[in-house]
Amino acid sequence: MTDILRTEGLGRVLPGPVPTTLVAEVTLAFQPASFSVITGPSGSGKSSLLYLLGLLDIPTQGDVFVGGAATSRLDDAARTRMRLAVFGFVFQFHFLLPEFSVLDNVMLPMRQLGALTRAQMRARGMALLDSLGMADQAHKKPDALSGGQRQRTAVARALANDPRVVLADEPTGSLDTRNAAAVFDVLARLATDGRTVIAVTHDEGLAAMAQRRIHLVDGRVVRDAAVAR
Ligand SMILES: Nc1ncnc2c1ncn2[C@@H]1O[C@H](COP(=O)(O)OP(=O)(O)O)[C@@H](O)[C@H]1O
Ligand SMILES: [Mg+2]
Repeated sequence: MTDILRTEGLGRVLPGPVPTTLVAEVTLAFQPASFSVITGPSGSGKSSLLYLLGLLDIPTQGDVFVGGAATSRLDDAARTRMRLAVFGFVFQFHFLLPEFSVLDNVMLPMRQLGALTRAQMRARGMALLDSLGMADQAHKKPDALSGGQRQRTAVARALANDPRVVLADEPTGSLDTRNAAAVFDVLARLATDGRTVIAVTHDEGLAAMAQRRIHLVDGRVVRDAAVAR
């Protein structure tokens, strides 16, 4: 079976008088229905690696393969299209648009992809919010929600285009312990449903909820192992 997401000798060096290595020699493969965490000290390249995996950044070495296809030479339009179709993103800060309702925020990536009618987008948005226990919040503005509810809205938005891969960068960094565990529960459930889920965290307790842990130091993978149960 072709890995949904794979890297080969992936690297990202920032040019300059003194070039900075953000990510180096990362070769990894990710299967469907898997939940991996990326851990490592602050500044170890976790976010940089996640951005490369999600085609938000372009490598200077190696490549990211999506469904077997190399991506570094895609033009911007093709890369954006692949990103919208394959990946969903959740960040530490929810980046919900304050002037839009919860439902409209969730529908935004669907509008960008442009594959559904407005009625289909609304129905799918409501179904996603319902699956996250958020149906009764759909018509509120993000400001009226709790932190945990906002992050669940961000997860619903990440799932808008039914992505095969969900990437989360410290999605619980601004949440209390209970809400953080709830968001990780949701991520684990997404993997059970067949998606490939990759989350950056620095929380040991949350890392233990994943199946696999990839540990970075100075932009390199120093450990990649199944999480002990
Ligand atoms: N655009 C940039 N310009 C300069 N340095 C950067 C840039 N992006 C990241 N870095 C540096 O690269 C290293 C890795 O950053 P990052 O991937 O954000 O680490 P992490 O998410 O593990 O904290 C850090 O030392 C950071 O300061
Ligand atoms: Mg980071």
